[in-house]
Amino acid sequence: MQAITQIRLSELKTFVSGKVREVYDLGEHLLLVSTDRISAFDRVLPVGIPDKGKVLTALSSFWFRKLEHISKHHLVTDDAGEFPREVQKYTDIIRDRSMLVKKAKRIDIECIVRGYLSGSAWREYQETGTVGEYRLQPGLDKNSKLTRPIFTPTTKTASGHDEAITIRKMCDMVGAGPGEYIIAKSLSLFEEASRYAEMKGIRLMDTKFEFGYCNGEIILIDEVLTPDSSRFVYQSKDEAKVLNLDKQFIRDYLESTGWDKNSDPPVIPHDVVLECRRRYLLLLEILTGSSPQWLE
Ligand SMILES: Nc1ncnc2c1ncn2[C@@H]1O[C@H](COP(=O)(O)OP(=O)(O)OP(=O)(O)O)[C@@H](O)[C@H]1O
Ligand SMILES: [Mg+2]
Repeated sequence: MQAITQIRLSELKTFVSGKVREVYDLGEHLLLVSTDRISAFDRVLPVGIPDKGKVLTALSSFWFRKLEHISKHHLVTDDAGEFPREVQKYTDIIRDRSMLVKKAKRIDIECIVRGYLSGSAWREYQETGTVGEYRLQPGLDKNSKLTRPIFTPTTKTASGHDEAITIRKMCDMVGAGPGEYIIAKSLSLFEEASRYAEMKGIRLMDTKFEFGYCNGEIILIDEVLTPDSSRFVYQSKDEAKVLNLDKQFIRDYLESTGWDKNSDPPVIPHDVVLECRRRYLLLLEILTGSSPQWLE
């Protein structure tokens, strides 16, 4: 079992090489290839997580289809057999980890929705009693459920250092109409996905959506409701503990090493890599109700 962290499809035109994905420009469409790279605290870590790119692809595809009554999206197909001819020669490398999508003009906002008080929201609340523009009731604990989900946007920059902004600032940047539209869509997507996950014993704590313009319409792009872009918590029957089925597990490990988050990230031990893989796969299996056919 090996993590695939480097993928270069030499004859295709690179659109962008992200922290996790290699994106190729096919004209009207993009090819989004998810590697097994993992990033945390804005840094790509020195080891990959085997099959992670496949899990992200399978889950994103699952959610795009499940939620398409709420929002149009960029997915054309994740079936490598249906990819355009120029991509066919790379099928063995990219199968099960790639999506053919509509190319969009990205709206440079991270549409963050939070149903619970975790991560940076918890840190902010402890200092100021607020999360973004929302003043919350005093005395809440870490991971408390919020009265209703809140929308806390940030900018999306090439440097990766995203900055929290107010809804008013976001609307100044993207226009009031589009701003209101992406807030409403983000909240509806979050509520529907939370309801579904809850039925499977999984709590969706928070997530991030991206939107873009395609043929004059705003559509959902990038990845959706994956363990990289969201926090998921599972209370299993046979494991007494509550399990984070997401990147939080790796963030917690990194924090435990005392890493200063500026120097090179530490090497992740093999057992931590395997446990991360197990959790990503478990999330996929619980949410979709089946084991992926690519799993050896
Ligand atoms: N349909 C689309 N049209 C245009 N750009 C897209 C589309 N879907 C995704 N993207 C962009 O492709 C890139 C995907 O790469 P990746 O997720 O690795 O990058 P990243 O966002 O830099 O990393 P991270 O997610 O860790 O912050 C992102 O820049 C994303 O905004
Ligand atoms: Mg991304």
